[in-house]
This record gives sequence, C-alpha cells and structure tokens, in this order.
Amino acid sequence: MNDRPIRLAVVGTGYVGLTTGACFAHLGHHVVCGDIDERKVDLLNNGHIPIVEEGLESIVNTARAAGRLEFVLGAEAAAAGADIVFLCVPTPQGDDGSADLSYIQRAAAQIAPILAPGAVVVNKSTVPVGSTIAVERVLQRDDVFVVSNPEFLREGTAVHDFLHPDRVVIGSADRAAAERVAELYAGVDASIHITDPASAETIKYAANGFLAMKISFVNAVAAMCEAVGADVAAVVEGIGSDQRIGMQFLRPGPGWGGSCFPKDSRALVKIAEDHGYNFTMMRGVIDVNDEQLDRMVDKIARAAGRLDADLSGVTIGALGLTFKAGTDDLRESPALAIIGHLRRNGASVRAYDPTTTGELTPHQFDVLAGIDLLDEPLAVADGADVITVFTEWPEFAKLELEQLASRSRPGVTIVDTRNLLDPAEVRAAGFDYDGVGRR
Ligand SMILES: NC(=O)c1ccc[n+]([C@@H]2O[C@H](COP(=O)([O-])OP(=O)(O)OC[C@H]3O[C@@H](n4cnc5c(N)ncnc54)[C@H](O)[C@@H]3O)[C@@H](O)[C@H]2O)c1
Repeated sequence: MNDRPIRLAVVGTGYVGLTTGACFAHLGHHVVCGDIDERKVDLLNNGHIPIVEEGLESIVNTARAAGRLEFVLGAEAAAAGADIVFLCVPTPQGDDGSADLSYIQRAAAQIAPILAPGAVVVNKSTVPVGSTIAVERVLQRDDVFVVSNPEFLREGTAVHDFLHPDRVVIGSADRAAAERVAELYAGVDASIHITDPASAETIKYAANGFLAMKISFVNAVAAMCEAVGADVAAVVEGIGSDQRIGMQFLRPGPGWGGSCFPKDSRALVKIAEDHGYNFTMMRGVIDVNDEQLDRMVDKIARAAGRLDADLSGVTIGALGLTFKAGTDDLRESPALAIIGHLRRNGASVRAYDPTTTGELTPHQFDVLAGIDLLDEPLAVADGADVITVFTEWPEFAKLELEQLASRSRPGVTIVDTRNLLDPAEVRAAGFDYDGVGRR
C-alpha cells in the first residue's frame, strides 16, 4: 500500500451526487464530480450551486478552495484514475412502473474502458435488486468490483443527513471491496451495515416503502377524523407517543410526492411482482396516496362553491409549489399534481413559491407552464376565490393574515393542505378554514 490519498469520482451531480461529492471532500477525500449537463458543470465551476440545499454552498466552496473538489464534463473525465467511482445518476420510473436503468447502464458503459484496475464502482442511485450484477455485466471487467451503497438523505437536509446518517448500508459480494467503501465514511458517526448486494438494494426500497406507508396511513386516519369529527393532531399525538409507533412521518398532508417515493413505491411493487410476490400492502399505500390528491382537489372545489368538476372562472391562489419545504425540487410535487387537476377542470392558478421568483431553469419553465407565478406571497389573495397552502415553507406560517385578508374577496376559504396555519387565527382574520383531518 502506498500513502497516496484515495481518489473518488462521482458520476452525476444532482441532489445526491453533488451532496455526496461535496461531503466526501468535506471529510478530506479528493473528489472529481462529472456530469453530462454542461450548464450544471459551468455553474459549479463558477461557484454557483444549481440546487437549493442548506449548507451545500459553503462546503462546496471550502472544498474547492482547498483543491479537494473538482467538476468536469462527463463520466469518463471524472472516473479517469479514480480508486472508487460513485454512480449517482437518475433511475426514473419506466413505463411499466419498474426503475429505468438506462442512465446507470450508460454511465457504466462510459466508464468501463477507463477504470483503473482494482477500482470499485458504487451504485448510490436507487436501483432494483440485481442491479449490482447488471452493472458488472455492462462493465465486463474482472478486475473491478461493484458495490451497492444506497443513499437515504432527504432533500432540504441533505448535507446534514449525509454527514449524520442513521446508518450506512453497503452491499457487496466481496468483503474487502465493501470495507474500502466503509473506510470512506471514517469521519461519519454512524453504524455501518455490510451485507450482500440484494439485501442492500432491498433495504433502500423497503425503507422508502415504509415511510410512504406511514404518510398514507396518517392521511387515511385524517380522512377518518373528518368523517367522525375527531382532530388528527390529537390522534397523532396519542398514537405517536407509543414508542413502538413514534411521531415521525405522521404528519397529514396533500399526499406524498418528490423524486423518490412515487417511483420507488411503484418499483417496489414491480420488483416483488417480477419475483412472484403480490405486494398488496404497497399497492394500497399508493392507492391511498392517489385518493389523497383527489380529496384535496375536492376540498378546493367545495371551497370554491363548485360541487361538480367544472371550475371554469375560478381563480386559485396557491402558496407553495415544491414537493416540500427546504428544496427547489418540483419533481412529482403534490402541489403540481393537484394544480394540474384543477387547471384541467377549468381553474386559473396564481402561485407564489420562494424558489420560483427568479429566472427559471428549463425544467421549472416546462413544469410550471400555464401557472401565473407571483413575486410575493400576499399577491395570491388578489382575485382569488380560494387560497391554498401546498408547501410547508416556514414563511407561510408567519404570513400577516390581516394583510392577506385586506387583499382578499370576502368569504374566501384557505384550504391548508399542510395543516400549517392556526385555524382560529385564520378565522379571526375573516377567512373560512379547511385543513386535513381537523376543523
Ligand atoms: N433526490 C433524493 O432525495 C434522493 C435520495 C436518495 C436516493 N436518491 C436516488 O439517487 C439517484 C439520483 O437522484 P438525484 O435526485 O440526485 O437525481 P438528479 O436528477 O438530481 O441528478 C442526476 C444527475 O445525473 C446526471 N447524469 C445522468 N447521466 C449521466 C452520465 N452518464 N454521466 C454523468 N452525469 C449523468 C444528470 O445530468 C443529473 O445532473 C436516483 O436513483 C434517486 O432515486 C435520490
């Protein structure tokens, strides 16, 4: 062994790849990150962070200034000479619900000819059972190892989650390769679970499936609370105080979304089906989520005084567009699913979100087409028949309700899909209030 520092490569500089590269550099490793998106690479090389993620800019800048973090164009340029290569490319939902592995396969094919002998390739993307072997097949290199190391970070707290994870999971058929990956996490205070690749891959899907199940469960309980006249906040406190259940992920809302739960829950059903198991519970979790989105559409239509599907002439003022607070990620946002439904039924939507006030990225431009974007939150009241809270941005909880009311038509309902506001304060300001599972 020589004393040369380990060289890491990260392929894909999205939410996971950029966080992974920056955090490993923060831990003292030398990291080269490669992406095929030239715009992203240029932004990063000019000191701009293309995503909203607390704490990321500071560790990227510090690591770059120390010469430990570089950004290059393409997977090949990143992987050249690397000891360990992390694949952090997308695994979107395929047409049949399964995970689309084409990005992983393409990235593996790109790096295959230039990998150093003895290199370790790590699947950090969320990939179905069998993907470690699938990547080995693409690489066709007997002298490199493929290891699974699923990522559990949450957008909005990605840097914190990477540096303080509840656990690190590593799956490998080769113990020494797994330990080389485990050593990279030496500065991280977390338990390390080394297992076989199929178990590591299953852990990631099972974890996301379980979390989605908790949210669907509490949303179903909220629906029941509305039916029987109970208060979901009291019910959650009562059940969550049971240590076997716990409080986390028991917050009712408009339904889960984001770049992971929707595709991963469907992929879990499909993986099980492909292996002969009908995962009925997971199918139910997905159905409850679809129903929850529909329930929000119904609430908003009711608040507009329309009991049929026709919302022509109705203006909705929307607070929040991202799938949750703390991120600029709009992928599979429940807000956009609900807004899409309302617009198809004839409604006009005016929306404010703190992440969509500046110049839009091409993706934002595409998915926000047809929504009238506003520069300040109080403007959602102007001309609105209904005001909705879609994202739990803390600034919405501090809105001056009197000022909002002064710009609103009389008798407007605030549909609070996040239970973010205090119903009594909303009513005192002159609005009607409708939350989720509470009065
Ligand atoms: N976003 C999350 O919260 C999260 C959390 C845990 C796991 N994951 C998983 O991590 C993976 C990545 O997710 P993400 O949200 O970071 O995706 P993302 O879309 O934000 O980023 C992926 C990046 O990969 C780049 N890319 C694609 N093909 C490439 C190639 N051949 N060479 C170089 N770059 C390439 C894209 O340009 C993009 O910048 C997915 O499998 C996802 O399920 C995501």
